[in-house]
Amino acid sequence: MSRFNHGPIERSSLLLLLLTMIVISIGGLVEIVPLFKVETTITPVKGVRPYSPLEQLGRNIYTREGCYVCHSQMVRPFRDEVDRYGHYSIAAESMYDHPFLWGSKRTGPDLARVGGRYSNAWHVAHLENPRSVVPESIMPSYAFLRNKDLVTSDIRDHLMALRGVGVPYSDEMVRDAEADIKAQAAGEGTDALLVRYPKAKVGDFDGQPDRLTEMDALIAYLQVLGTMVDFGDVRLEQPGQ
Ligand code: HEC
Repeated sequence: MSRFNHGPIERSSLLLLLLTMIVISIGGLVEIVPLFKVETTITPVKGVRPYSPLEQLGRNIYTREGCYVCHSQMVRPFRDEVDRYGHYSIAAESMYDHPFLWGSKRTGPDLARVGGRYSNAWHVAHLENPRSVVPESIMPSYAFLRNKDLVTSDIRDHLMALRGVGVPYSDEMVRDAEADIKAQAAGEGTDALLVRYPKAKVGDFDGQPDRLTEMDALIAYLQVLGTMVDFGDVRLEQPGQ
């Protein structure tokens, strides 16, 4: 015999349902409400910055071309993956990614840490004809990107939209976005750019210094992947610090 008389509750399914819902909502509120109070649930990590305007345009092309259908961008914390790709991905590394491009299938290798692994010239050759550098490759050719001029006139709208979802682009970054694109792709007058976007790779990317193409942007993006965080600085065993 229970001290509490819950016989009536157990006999009335409606009452049981109602009370169950009340109890679950209390539990839910306790978990969810604090999340509205915090700015981010991600532990910030030194080095992670918003993408430079050129890298962001490259990211848009990566998304448009569906590269994520064959490539993931998330190194999982397993021995074999860490041996192959490098340090496993941490949440802060994709905190400015909208939409995220973690992917769910690996027809090709993970690209989360591909930045700096190959030269720009290798990427040009590979994107033009993957078989020229990896004979057994089944990746499609993206040669046309090298003949398509990069559209930069809408970059401010892109940055403003990202700002709307929490990426900290300043007024100045938005205002000078087009100048930053030119400076990064030309490798000249990059002082302001490198203050705003430390460690950005600068210079011509697609082997055509007199032209700014979609391939320039895409390679600028590939070259930054996984290079922002210096894992010597990160102490991962202390979450929340
Ligand atoms: C149909 C699937 C498929 C698509 C779509 C695809 N790739 Fe690949 N990718 C592969 C395969 C398979 C490989 C491994 C063989 C090779 O290196 O070519 C690869 C390799 C790569 C590599 C070399 C990675 C490394 O660590 O060696 C890069 C960089 C790359 N792809 C970029 C891209 C980009 C950028 C796009 C979109 C423009 C793209 N891929 C679209 C299948 C694909």
